[in-house]
Amino acid sequence: MGKSIGMDYAPLAAALAGRLRDRGTPEHIATLFARVPRHRFLPDVVWTEDRARIDRTEDPRTWLRTAYTDQALTTQRDDGRDGGMGLPTSSSSAPSVMARMLTAARIEPDQRVLEIGTGTGFNAALLSELLGARNVATVEIDETLAETARTSLYAAGYTPDVIVGDGERVEANAPAYHRIIATCTVARVPWSWLDQVRGRGRIVTPWSPSPGAPGGVLAQLDTHGRGLAEGRFEGSLAFMWARGQRRTGQRAPDAHAGPDHVETVDGDPRTDFLDGERALILSLLVPGWFHGMRVEPGAQEPHVWAASARCSSWARWHSDGRVEQAGARRLADEFAAGMSWWGARGGPGVDRFGLTVDRENARQTVWLDDPQHALWSTHRQIT
Ligand SMILES: C[S@@+](CC[C@H](N)C(=O)[O-])C[C@H]1O[C@@H](n2cnc3c(N)ncnc32)[C@H](O)[C@@H]1O
Repeated sequence: MGKSIGMDYAPLAAALAGRLRDRGTPEHIATLFARVPRHRFLPDVVWTEDRARIDRTEDPRTWLRTAYTDQALTTQRDDGRDGGMGLPTSSSSAPSVMARMLTAARIEPDQRVLEIGTGTGFNAALLSELLGARNVATVEIDETLAETARTSLYAAGYTPDVIVGDGERVEANAPAYHRIIATCTVARVPWSWLDQVRGRGRIVTPWSPSPGAPGGVLAQLDTHGRGLAEGRFEGSLAFMWARGQRRTGQRAPDAHAGPDHVETVDGDPRTDFLDGERALILSLLVPGWFHGMRVEPGAQEPHVWAASARCSSWARWHSDGRVEQAGARRLADEFAAGMSWWGARGGPGVDRFGLTVDRENARQTVWLDDPQHALWSTHRQIT
């Protein structure tokens, strides 16, 4: 960790905990942030949410102050490889987001918790402070990160079980945990998680229908001991993807590809995509797509494109009202139908949608208000 910073972290940590309390975090969770020193889990170099690079060796005071701000701090880029595009691949999540997930997990004394995505180890330290380290296990797919986290945890006096491995495939002979908290996004809740949770347990995970869909949500799923987990979404939430579920091989439609259907609508058809909340709703209404924006040569404004995750169909929405589609799947029609269905029901918010993970039928289903009101399902082989 290098030389001492000559500044006390305790008032900074207490202030952070105070801000979490002010925002409604329950006392037993907020107090963890005053007791566990976040800076002891951070590497010397971190990147802030506005991509500023903060180096402890150059500016130790700013580094320490940054550690106690309520923001996600990127701690690894490009899976730790040099020469990449600088894509964040590990971070210490924003404290308010961690507090929200810890609260959503409804952890009770003496319960055992499995965390997926150790990262820096800070969340495992908070859990250890809450429950005692013997009740905490955490899995990290990146061996170097796991080793660093273990060292930080032990140095701070916490000794949870730090497992190097793929958290999507955790194995155990008998259900061992009451709660799972994942700190990486999944589109498919791994079946193995259902095996890990005892009877009536709870899985809390960032969830998004597919990589490249707009944003994500916090899924809080109650397990019922029969290979079933079910529950509502609780607001939007953006996290890095679980390594095995990152976007792979998906491409934006060819910029020169011609549509096989064009219509012109009144107003700007990109509106739903440009509004974060409505775009998130779209991702719950229409499955299996990813999207982006692109500026055509000579165009004043970017257009929005979406492409099917299942086939080569695509659609484009232009600021001048043009809506273009190509392929067997009429994506723009699906979005329009989805939005009018949603509008006819009074525009329900994210919190009225939910997810059922049904192992027996190899199905994960998004619903509105009630599991009986299924919107769409993904079918997935049980492996
Ligand atoms: C947002 S960070 C986790 C933050 C962490 N909980 C903390 O307190 O610092 C996400 C982590 O998930 C890890 N990860 C991604 N896919 C994983 C998988 N399949 N199994 C275990 N860890 C995974 C990443 O390597 C990354 O370290």
